[in-house]
Amino acid sequence: MSGNLATVSYIGATILFILSLGGLSNPESSRRGNLFGMIGMTIAVLATVFGPRVTAAGIPWIVSAMVVGGAIGLYAARTVQMTQMPELVALMHSLVGLAAGLVGFASYIDSSVELSGAEKSIHEMEIYIGILIGAVTFSGSLIAFGKLNGKIGGKPLLLPARHWLNLAGLLVVIWFGREFLNAHSMAEGMTPLFVMTAIALLFGIHMVMAIGGADMPVVVSMLNSYSGWAAAATGFMLSNDLLIVVGALVGSSGAILSYIMCRAMNRNFISVIAGGFGTGGGTPAAKGDAAQPAGEVTPISSLETAELLKDAKSVIIVPGYGMAVAQAQHTVYEITKHLREKGVNIRFGIHPVAGRMPGHMNVLLAEAKVPYDIVMEMDELNEDFPATDVAMVIGANDIVNPAAQDDPTSPIAGMPVLEVWKAKTSIVMKRSMASGYAGVDNPLFYKENNRMLFGDAKKMLDEVLVALKS
Ligand code: TAP
Repeated sequence: MSGNLATVSYIGATILFILSLGGLSNPESSRRGNLFGMIGMTIAVLATVFGPRVTAAGIPWIVSAMVVGGAIGLYAARTVQMTQMPELVALMHSLVGLAAGLVGFASYIDSSVELSGAEKSIHEMEIYIGILIGAVTFSGSLIAFGKLNGKIGGKPLLLPARHWLNLAGLLVVIWFGREFLNAHSMAEGMTPLFVMTAIALLFGIHMVMAIGGADMPVVVSMLNSYSGWAAAATGFMLSNDLLIVVGALVGSSGAILSYIMCRAMNRNFISVIAGGFGTGGGTPAAKGDAAQPAGEVTPISSLETAELLKDAKSVIIVPGYGMAVAQAQHTVYEITKHLREKGVNIRFGIHPVAGRMPGHMNVLLAEAKVPYDIVMEMDELNEDFPATDVAMVIGANDIVNPAAQDDPTSPIAGMPVLEVWKAKTSIVMKRSMASGYAGVDNPLFYKENNRMLFGDAKKMLDEVLVALKS
């Protein structure tokens, strides 16, 4: 393939990636967006493999790597549970970081590139910064992976003087950067490069370890952004325009998403990045701990729930992580269909951080074929709760916790929540009185107009459906 054709292919791929991002912003066009992304990536890979910079001898290596990588990717995508998706995403980000680091070292020891003067300095700066971002992304994403799958506890690690430690690390990295640029030989340059890599790895670990459970969603999207910048840095090192553009697209869209999520959780972006957030100074209960009883709860049976739904004119369903765990979305759809046929105004309220990744609930509901026009965002629906007969919370906890508004000392204070307690009756479906992801008690459970439907969401909803149809 000629250089010109490769360039044209890259421009085509870039346009497809932009269209893909545009498509992914809306559930209705997201399939098309995905398709654009897949076509763009196929063109990009083909144009690179058969482009002017790859020799015939290199092709078998690339193809073998692609077969191995593709097989692992296919296996992971087919076997991963919906609830494990965020961990998988975190793991993938770590691979982008690892690739950026390895490409950085390879570029440095590549003797075929003969540069001098300013060009050499710029190339070395690209290598230094590329490895730095890559190493932070790699170790940070691995820790995020561990936290999300529960192998590492959600409790933040707050070292004394941690901000000073970070600052000292940054200064050392800058100083070694100078040493690296002034090195007279490759061997001499390796020492500062290795020291910086070690500090960057430690920094990534420290940064994510210091972040509390409730702020993990922001961290995942922030690492997504980092992985984009790592890819862009790789593009600079390899002088590959497409990688620079795509990396910048991922980097900036990840940063925008992080910002939007911070706003949705009433968090300050800088504070989240600096770590030690999501704890509110208090000690969150260990995951799954029984919350301290703060009153009496009123249980309800599935039969009574069906009766309440039969009598309701308007219903709002608030799904959360528990719906994903129970895989209850299909039964939820059956119930929705049944109630809609009976003329009930039924809608879904989606919190921006419901579940364990952005858009988690939307994906599940779309999979179950729930119509998009009844799936609303939190802001669109919150003022409708007072005029709602039944608010049904399915496996959600933190996102419907009134303490976020009422208790300034709560670790989730200030986080916007769906105000289900304002409905005539709210029903919370969960298996026990255990706390949610943030590990805090939920005063909603003890409200007078609240009922608790205890049990696995899928099992209980199956019973509700049978009762509704009888
Ligand atoms: P959570 O607060 O984690 O609550 C989920 C509830 O579902 C739990 O209280 C659990 O109670 C219940 N549950 C679990 N399995 C169930 C089953 N099989 N049947 C019925 N109920 C079940 O979830 P949420 O309300 O969706 O809030 C999301 C939380 O996750 C927030 O704190 C958010 O910050 C965090 N987070 C979000 C993301 C993103 S990006 N969305 C990423 C990481 C973390 P029982 O054990 O008693 O059943």
